[in-house]
Amino acid sequence: MTTAALALRPLGEHLGTEALGVDLSRLDDDTFAWIAKSFAEHPVLVFRDQHLSAKDIASFGRRFGIPRKHALVKYRHPDYPEVSWLTNVEADGRIDWYGVKRATEWHTDSTYEKELPVLAMLHALEVPSKKGGTMFADMRAAYDALPAAMKDRLAGLVGLHGRSSGPAGERLYGADKGETERHYGEVPRPAVINHPVTKRPILFVNPMHTHGFQGMARDEAWPLIEELATFATQERFTYYHSWRPGDQLMWDERATMHRGAGDADPQERRVMMRTIVYPN
Ligand code: OGA
Ligand code: MN
Repeated sequence: MTTAALALRPLGEHLGTEALGVDLSRLDDDTFAWIAKSFAEHPVLVFRDQHLSAKDIASFGRRFGIPRKHALVKYRHPDYPEVSWLTNVEADGRIDWYGVKRATEWHTDSTYEKELPVLAMLHALEVPSKKGGTMFADMRAAYDALPAAMKDRLAGLVGLHGRSSGPAGERLYGADKGETERHYGEVPRPAVINHPVTKRPILFVNPMHTHGFQGMARDEAWPLIEELATFATQERFTYYHSWRPGDQLMWDERATMHRGAGDADPQERRVMMRTIVYPN
C-alpha cells in the first residue's frame, strides 16, 4: 500500500472523520503512524469496508496499547477474550434484552477502573436496516464552550466514578447492571483533564459512571452531572454514526462521550466486535 492514497474526510459537521485508503487487515508501520497521528486530532475515526477477524481486531488494538478483557463476562469472544461481542441476539437467536438496552445512555467507558482506557473500537458485522447508530460528543469542544463561571467551578472539582452508578447508569440499568468478574469501587478523577497528546482540556464528567464530586452532597452533585451532560451533548458537539457492515470505528476514550442511539427495531440483528485498549 502506498501512503499517497491516505486521506481524511469529515463525516459529521463537528466530529467523525473517515480515514480513506487503509486496509486494516494488512497494516504496515507507516500507515499505522499516519492513523495514530490523525487520531490525536480526530477522536472518532472510521474505516469503511474492512473485513476483520477477531484476531485482526486484537492485533490492531495491540498497536495502540493493551487490549483488555471486557468487564461483562458473558460477551467475551471465546478465542480472543480481549475482543467482545456487542450484540442484541442470544446464542439461540432470541433477543438479548440486556444487549438491546446496553450503553444507550451517554457515557465514557470504564472511567470507574483504576486505569483509564486510551480508546475503544467497534467492528460492525450485522446492522439494522435503519437507525441503530452510535452517537459521539466532543468533550474538548464542550469544555471550550462552557461559561467562564462553570470553568472556574470545575477547576477545583474531583469527580467520583463507580460502575454505572451515576444518574444515567441508575436510570438505564437500576439493579440490573450485568455480571462482572470483579467488584469495582470508587475512583476519583479531576472533572477536567488534558489530552495526553494535544494537551487540550477535556470535560471529564459522564452521567453513567460519575456519581458525585469530592466534598459535594448528592443533591447538588447529581443535578450538576446532568447539567454538564445536557450541555455537552447538544447537537453542535455531537455526531451520529450510521453503521454499515464492515465499518471499523475507533474513538478516543478521553476526548469523547458516546452512547448507543437505542433507536432501532430490537427484532433486527445488530452484531459487532469490540475491543478496548489500555496504555502500555
Ligand atoms: C460501547 C458502546 C454503543 C453502541 O461499545 O462501548 O457504548 O452503539 N456502544 O452499541
Ligand atoms: Mn461504551
